[in-house]
Amino acid sequence: MTKLSVNVNKIATLRNARGNNIPNLEMVTKSIIDFGADGITMHPRPDERHIKYQDVFDLASIIKEKVEFNIEGFPSDRFMSMVLEVKPHQVTLVPDKEDVLTSLNGWDTIKHKIFLKDIIKDLQNSGIRSSVFIHPEIEMVEGASFVNADRIELFTGLYADSKNSIANYVECSKQANLMSMGVNAGHDLDSENLDFFIKNMPFLDEVSIGHGLISESLFLGLENTINVYKSILQ
Ligand code: PXP
Repeated sequence: MTKLSVNVNKIATLRNARGNNIPNLEMVTKSIIDFGADGITMHPRPDERHIKYQDVFDLASIIKEKVEFNIEGFPSDRFMSMVLEVKPHQVTLVPDKEDVLTSLNGWDTIKHKIFLKDIIKDLQNSGIRSSVFIHPEIEMVEGASFVNADRIELFTGLYADSKNSIANYVECSKQANLMSMGVNAGHDLDSENLDFFIKNMPFLDEVSIGHGLISESLFLGLENTINVYKSILQ
């Protein structure tokens, strides 16, 4: 079954709006786990406007002992020393520039092969699974294999906007599997577009979902919303 990793950045964004501890990120994260999420994703950006680096340190052991912990981000020196200390189960490498609103670009795994290969080696030497965020293009999948990534994460924003047909995702999923890599997917997935995606993807280990799931929980509540997503994934 495809795993659901819930991205909790939006909870931190809400908390940061007032400078106090409401909503309490630890309480919400624990609840998300209790309600059935298979994993938690955190994406500390350089300006820390969502998740702060301190949040990662504070919550790592609570998350790691219960579910899969995935940390996303651009592998700057600061990011790498943090993940090598925290040792999450998985690190998703994202080629974000400092000031982006959200991650819309995937890696050019061919152009950045030397950089990525070194970073992935450091992660693997620490026992951390690596995943490389890419657009659904076969050359990028092949490039990810060349740099020894354990998994790819396919950017689903194009699918959600109906700008890219499911066929490209299916092809990339098959190719990754042929090359012994796992397949994750994320960005702009929600309870409406997830069903078709899941039903068509031949190999899909995990989806990472934040914005849509947290937004829907305003109407349904977190527990019901997570149940909805879990039943789609089944
Ligand atoms: N995957 C990556 C690499 C991301 O940067 C994000 C957004 O932080 C997501 C998945 C989740 O996207 P969304 O919040 O649209 O569900």
